Amino acid sequence: MNKIYTVAILGVGARGGNAYGKLINKFTEKYKIVALCDLREDRLEHFGGLFGVDKENRFNSDAEFFKKKRADLLVIATPDKAHVRHTIKAFEVGYDVLVEKPLTDNEEECKLLLRAQAKHGCRALVCHVLRYAPAYTKLYEIINSGKIGRLIDINWIEPVGYWHQAHSYVRGNWRNTADSAPMILAKSCHDLDLLQWYAKSKCKTISSVGSLDFFKAENAPKGATERCQDCPHKDICPYSAYRIYIERWHQSGCPTHEWPYTVVATAPVSEEKIRAAIESGPYGKCVFHCDNNVVDHQTVQMLFENGITATFHMNAFNLHGGRRVTMFGTYGELYMDQKTITVNVFGKPTETINVNELLEADYGHGGGDAKLVEALYDMMEGNAGLETSLEASIESHLMGIKAEESRLAEGKLLLIH
Ligand SMILES: NC(=O)c1ccc[n+]([C@@H]2O[C@H](COP(=O)([O-])OP(=O)(O)OC[C@H]3O[C@@H](n4cnc5c(N)ncnc54)[C@H](O)[C@@H]3O)[C@@H](O)[C@H]2O)c1
Repeated sequence: MNKIYTVAILGVGARGGNAYGKLINKFTEKYKIVALCDLREDRLEHFGGLFGVDKENRFNSDAEFFKKKRADLLVIATPDKAHVRHTIKAFEVGYDVLVEKPLTDNEEECKLLLRAQAKHGCRALVCHVLRYAPAYTKLYEIINSGKIGRLIDINWIEPVGYWHQAHSYVRGNWRNTADSAPMILAKSCHDLDLLQWYAKSKCKTISSVGSLDFFKAENAPKGATERCQDCPHKDICPYSAYRIYIERWHQSGCPTHEWPYTVVATAPVSEEKIRAAIESGPYGKCVFHCDNNVVDHQTVQMLFENGITATFHMNAFNLHGGRRVTMFGTYGELYMDQKTITVNVFGKPTETINVNELLEADYGHGGGDAKLVEALYDMMEGNAGLETSLEASIESHLMGIKAEESRLAEGKLLLIH
């Protein structure tokens, strides 16, 4: 019979509660959720009830929660700026951890984390979920098979999607580096992580340019008001909260438990709740009148130690999110978007792989969330390759930290190590 590991979750929001909590709670033969900690009583109540966690094991203070070890494993899904403090505290208490990215935006803290882990001998897996998503694993397999020869160059695009940018990076939690990591880490550390995984090499040099160009007051249409409810453009502006949260919600069939609507209003979501949130909360602010400072477009250029070159582009100005990747090898090329992987081996017929057929589960991040939760069990059993161990994940964090440093220095070329 399997060992059942007890799990505590720190931060039961979109990731800790809705994503990992629900998945972990499904695998009853592997895990049992026994304690929760969050500042928000409504979330403790909701997820406590859903996961069957006793009231005395629901904590609204992390200080109280950390007074003793409450489970075998701790899931840390608090906001970006809390990850280092919570992970180090968790190691001190003796937890093995699953911790959300980004770990930190600070090089010194990367070292602190590694030292704390070594000192306390705990295991840690970082939520670079895309490494576990079947479509990305398939790309890795193709490269490894040697089908396209030796990898030479990668062109990686991350179109964020105009409304996703407005939701998360203009109005939402990741809009300002005072409260969260810069875009290259908050959103794009997955991409940097995948790039160095595919390159099978550490990054040697990096440079980056980019800025916040559009979502600022000087670009507001004439007469635009501070909040969408009062604005003469509210029915035509594509960034209007009414169009993003009410029009799109109707177009999607009025889901009651779906992101991003559950971020705006508490589930079960209704039109009445969304309207009330737009009228009083941050998601009803004009995108040109927010306190955002993170970029809306950024380009990164990388040289890996083994000679592979790569460029990465993120930008907000596209209809749909979904990464687009081209890899160039000495005997072929491959292209991936949200629907297909196309492989052109020179002199042979084109091979097309349907990405949807690779998905085993209808879970977040193209199945990556579910596979990560499986990998977590392997880590606990001591038989995992630890694809996204703390050490491996810190490598891509260093790339992000240096990319941001370079961007702020107008594209200065920097060494990673
Ligand atoms: N791996 C991924 O692909 C992925 C995707 C989205 C978000 N994230 C990351 O996951 C983390 C959580 O994001 P989210 O969308 O779930 O945010 P969220 O706001 O929905 O959830 C965070 C929760 O932490 C709680 N919290 C804050 N400070 C706390 C404290 N000191 N003690 C206890 N609880 C506290 C909040 O009340 C909230 O419920 C962020 O760091 C984010 O960048 C990762």
